[in-house]
Amino acid sequence: MTRALFDPLTLRGLEIRNRIWIPPMCQYAVDAQDGIPTDWHLMHLGSLARGGAGLVTVEATGVSPEGRISPEDLGLWNDEQAQAFRRLTAMIHSQGAAAAIQLAHAGRKASTWRAWGDHPEGNVPAERGGWQPVGPSPRAYDGLAVPTELTAEGIADVVVAFIAAARRAVNAGFDVLEIHGAHGYLLHEFLSPLSNGRTDAYGGSLENRARLLLEVVDAVRAEVGEQVPMIVRLSATDWVQGGWDLPQTEAVSSWLGEHGVDMISVSSGGNVPAEIPVGPGYQLPFATSIKESTGLPVAAVGMIDDPFQAEQIVALGQSDVVLVGRESLRDPNFPIRAAEALRYDMPYKPAPYERAYR
Ligand code: FNR
Repeated sequence: MTRALFDPLTLRGLEIRNRIWIPPMCQYAVDAQDGIPTDWHLMHLGSLARGGAGLVTVEATGVSPEGRISPEDLGLWNDEQAQAFRRLTAMIHSQGAAAAIQLAHAGRKASTWRAWGDHPEGNVPAERGGWQPVGPSPRAYDGLAVPTELTAEGIADVVVAFIAAARRAVNAGFDVLEIHGAHGYLLHEFLSPLSNGRTDAYGGSLENRARLLLEVVDAVRAEVGEQVPMIVRLSATDWVQGGWDLPQTEAVSSWLGEHGVDMISVSSGGNVPAEIPVGPGYQLPFATSIKESTGLPVAAVGMIDDPFQAEQIVALGQSDVVLVGRESLRDPNFPIRAAEALRYDMPYKPAPYERAYR
């Protein structure tokens, strides 16, 4: 089999040292006040970079206060936050990895409790730091508040917030920008007919439902210039009949490519409750299909946690990159471990770690 997992990958001018990347993972750090990253983020992301990943993606980061998922989310809507992110990019770079950040607006799934801990169901109330969520239409996610329908001005404000956050991210040292268009957050809510019932230019046809995502991509590209690689994360399906699906994802992915997006990160679900057939590599066929139909580089994710599985996916061309999420939480040194298991000579293994393998 061809050796592939530790081949570098170049996006625009940026060479990334291998094909094992870290997807965004919210930390819901209780001490993250006002969207500012903490020592936890520095340590967490630093250990993933030191563990040998090619690219480390910072968690979903709100482009505006109401765009956060929870009050504990990171944000990038002011300069104080941007300053604090510099430490993260410097740390990631010092360990030889490239740094990406996922820019996000949580839409109708905003103002929810963090994913773990003791808390009631539903939305975070105002007295606990919550706020009124917005969305394409006044259609609630199961068990959550009915969002306020965004006006045309509200939509324009969202685009402006993405522009400003992208500028701050690049100034803070991020090499790659990822736009969060997946998991039932705002941009996915516009894409899916299940959450978007608008009758204006942002609803109805696929072109209209994709309009906001393409506007964000165009605006961010115009702001940051041609050098910065841009990834868009999409859910390939809502896993529900009549919802967002693979053919629509492929059509929009190809438009994204025409609009200068460099890679599609292929996830699924999150917009409506659904039965999802979870298992090793369960989302990989979506990534492969998008890669084949659009010719764009793709990143695959979902229970890819075995070195040989990862090597095979990249070597067979099923995906250009594997994103390793929960396994990298269990073992931040997964890339080093994979290199050992696959008998790669990994030049950037920290010298003291050599001892662990002798
Ligand atoms: C996630 N995931 C996620 N996805 C995303 O697009 N933005 C995010 O901020 C988060 N946050 C997050 C937090 C935590 C703790 C987990 C475990 C997951 C989803 C993640 O990026 C990935 O797609 C899934 O975890 C599936 O990949 P694995 O874990 O099976 O490798």
